[in-house]
Amino acid sequence: MNKDELMKTAKAMVAPGKGILAADESSGTIKKRFDTISVESTEENRRAYRELLFTTPGMEEFISGVILFDETIRQKAKDGTPLPAVLSKKGVIPGIKVDKGAQMLAGSENEKATEGLDGLRDRFAEYYTLGARFSKWRAVITIGQGIPTDYCISVNAHTLARFAALSQEANIVPIVEPEVLMDADNTIEVCEQVTEKTLLAVFDELKKQKIFIEGMILKPNMVIAGKKCPTQATKEQIAESTIRCFKKVLLKELAGVVFLSGGQSEVEATVNLNEMNQTAPHPWELSFSYGRALQQSALKAWGGKPGNTKAAQDVFYKRAKLNGAARYGKYTSDME
Ligand code: 13P
Repeated sequence: MNKDELMKTAKAMVAPGKGILAADESSGTIKKRFDTISVESTEENRRAYRELLFTTPGMEEFISGVILFDETIRQKAKDGTPLPAVLSKKGVIPGIKVDKGAQMLAGSENEKATEGLDGLRDRFAEYYTLGARFSKWRAVITIGQGIPTDYCISVNAHTLARFAALSQEANIVPIVEPEVLMDADNTIEVCEQVTEKTLLAVFDELKKQKIFIEGMILKPNMVIAGKKCPTQATKEQIAESTIRCFKKVLLKELAGVVFLSGGQSEVEATVNLNEMNQTAPHPWELSFSYGRALQQSALKAWGGKPGNTKAAQDVFYKRAKLNGAARYGKYTSDME
């Protein structure tokens, strides 16, 4: 493990005013996204769409890195340049999603465990040669009747740490993503309790498995009410609860935090990040690693038509810029 290299990469990922684009939708997820614009999910359409995003002029002002899917890291732009090289030429760091998705957890109803550790050491070695300098593993924690169980939290925390150890061994910065889902009807208070418990378990495992904290990034959910909760929290409550929770459980050595958007709208994700950065400095950089909240409008503007490339890139650039402003707490609604 080269600690200097890991620290340097991790710092660059959360550089001031910048965050990460999550473009690592698995084959199943990208199909769902393409279905919303009635575009067939062919390999060429997926390639063309990702090329559109990555070649957006100026996106590198606000995007420090992009998380790729296994298929994408092997694809080329129209001019023959490998897509990871398209990014690194602009100073954007290529990353790779390495988990193989969440499957039903044996012995528990309605809970999931993430798979993908088998053969991971060799896969990391290959991804490094393909240009990846950071990686991502997502675990999901579901809130519901009697769940999450301690069993589910501990299995996922253990696996996240095993992933992180293998990633750092390969000099690839791990993004550790324990996502508490926001789909249920729970209050923000319940989300705070579950997030705190989950993060405590994750940091306990990271410590046990000797993870180099300065050389990793955490990708958590914001502390937020479930989508079906009748009482939705304000941006002030979300920011306050999230930061209160983090202050209890995050180590200050952590290189940075990049939030997932998790089903928040584009504007909500920007507003909430902005709110948290208005009370900066915090012990850690608070940044973004959004999928849907950076791509939704751009995907619509593209609609699968090459003639819409510029329009879609303009929309993506604007979203990235607004989140860049939120990194400094300087976003205002009139910038929309
Ligand atoms: P969303 O921002 O759409 O939640 O996606 C981020 C991500 O990478 C989930 O793993």
